[in-house]
Amino acid sequence: MEKKRVFRMAITALLFALVAIPMVAVAGDAKNGEKLALGRPVANCVSCHHFPKIEFPSDIAPDLVEVMKGYAEKDRDTVRQWVYDARKFNPDTFMPPYGASKLLIFKGEEKLSAEEQKKLIDKRVDDIVEFLYSLKKK
Ligand code: HEC
Repeated sequence: MEKKRVFRMAITALLFALVAIPMVAVAGDAKNGEKLALGRPVANCVSCHHFPKIEFPSDIAPDLVEVMKGYAEKDRDTVRQWVYDARKFNPDTFMPPYGASKLLIFKGEEKLSAEEQKKLIDKRVDDIVEFLYSLKKK
C-alpha cells in the first residue's frame, strides 16, 4: 500500500518536471546553454570552436563570437538549424548533428520515450542558441 503511494508520487513529480521545465524556459536558458556548449562530457562545442575565456581555444572551426556578429534576431531559425543539424547547410560538415543525433541525451535519459527525448533535445538546442545570442553582447 505505502509503496504504491510513493511510486505514484514519484511518477507525478516526474511528469510535473517534464512538463514544467520546458514551460518555464520557453525562449531558452542561456546559462544552461553555456554549460552545454562549454562542458566536456556534454556538447563540447569548444573542441572545435573558439569561445571567450577559454585558455587554449580551438581554431579548427569558426570563432562563434565572430560568427554571431553576422546573425540578427530574425536569423534565429538559421542558427538553430546549424546546431540542430549542420548537414542541411554543408552535407560534408564534420560538426555533429546535435538535434538529429542523440548527443544531447545524457546518461540515464536513454530510457525515456522517444517523445520525451525529443523534448529534451529541443530544449537543449534552444538553450545553446540562447547562449550563442548572448555572445553578441560580449
Ligand atoms: C567537430 C567539430 C565541431 C563541433 C564539436 C561543433 N562544431 Fe560548429 N561548426 C564546425 C565547423 C567546421 C563549422 C563550419 C561550417 C562547416 O564546415 O560545416 C561549424 C559551424 C557552426 C556554426 C555556423 C557558423 C556560420 O558560419 O554561420 C554554428 C552556429 C556552430 N557551428 C555552432 C556550434 C555549437 C553551438 C556547437 C556545440 C553545440 C558546435 N558548433 C560544435 C565544427 C564543429
